Amino acid sequence: MIRNLAYAGFISPNAAEWRAFGPDVLGAQVVDGADDAVRLRIDDRAWRIAVHPGEHDDIAYFGWAVTDDEIAGTIERAEGFGCTVHVDDALAAERQVGRLAWFEDPFGVRHELIDEIAGPEVFTPGRSMEGPFVTGEQGLGHVVLVLPDAERGREFVTGVLGMALSDVITTGPVVVDFYHCRTSEARHHTLATMSIPGMVGFFHLMLEVAEIDDVGRALDRVKKLKMTLPMDLGKHPNDLMTSFYVRGPSGFDIEYGTGGLVVDDADWEVGAYDHVSLWGHRAPDGGPPPPGIMRPAG
Ligand SMILES: [Fe+2]
Repeated sequence: MIRNLAYAGFISPNAAEWRAFGPDVLGAQVVDGADDAVRLRIDDRAWRIAVHPGEHDDIAYFGWAVTDDEIAGTIERAEGFGCTVHVDDALAAERQVGRLAWFEDPFGVRHELIDEIAGPEVFTPGRSMEGPFVTGEQGLGHVVLVLPDAERGREFVTGVLGMALSDVITTGPVVVDFYHCRTSEARHHTLATMSIPGMVGFFHLMLEVAEIDDVGRALDRVKKLKMTLPMDLGKHPNDLMTSFYVRGPSGFDIEYGTGGLVVDDADWEVGAYDHVSLWGHRAPDGGPPPPGIMRPAG
């Protein structure tokens, strides 16, 4: 069983810009590693976000924390789904985890199964903050992916990653599925997916802070820097997160929010919504920009 999202890696020609964006806007700490990737820390784990220099903005990998007794089962399910799984000790050392197995899903997204990122380390926020990021058993945050096939996507997320559907938001032709990890203290969603035939893409990475003042402070920074806000401050009806979305240096958005719902898989009932926001989340004139990372699937 996957416990949470442990880390996320990206490729970008603008990797170096994260050295300023990470601390100044997000409040993250830049940590130096052995290579030229920019790594960010947001809690006592050694790192949580990595941006590797490269030609195009793209997803590089997602790291999923898996319980010890479930690693073999998860590998077996991935193989049963047609994925080739690699156990890679050298990469485990590079990612600063105890053990690591990786595979590419049928859509071309790379998943890494890990135990835990090294720590505890001292986290020094990149700018002053009122409170911590919300991580721990809930992990880094959540990610929202574009997958080419809704049905196959759901089979993969529930059948291989072992997550459960939290709810579905349908707005016109757009259907977004929200999934939680099957624990007793899970984020309302750790992964959400939207399908666009033939495409794989990435919408956003959500980071949660404990204090609304830290959301306001980040929003002030974004506005002062005149960065694009695909969605201004607002609140979602399903996870009850109060958040805004900023277009980061690498095409995709960061959702920065507080107050997200924690669910217990044992008594969760699947919901359905026909709206994305209870209030706010206003898009810029002309509508929100399309996802910055989109490429043909496979
Ligand atoms: Fe989100």
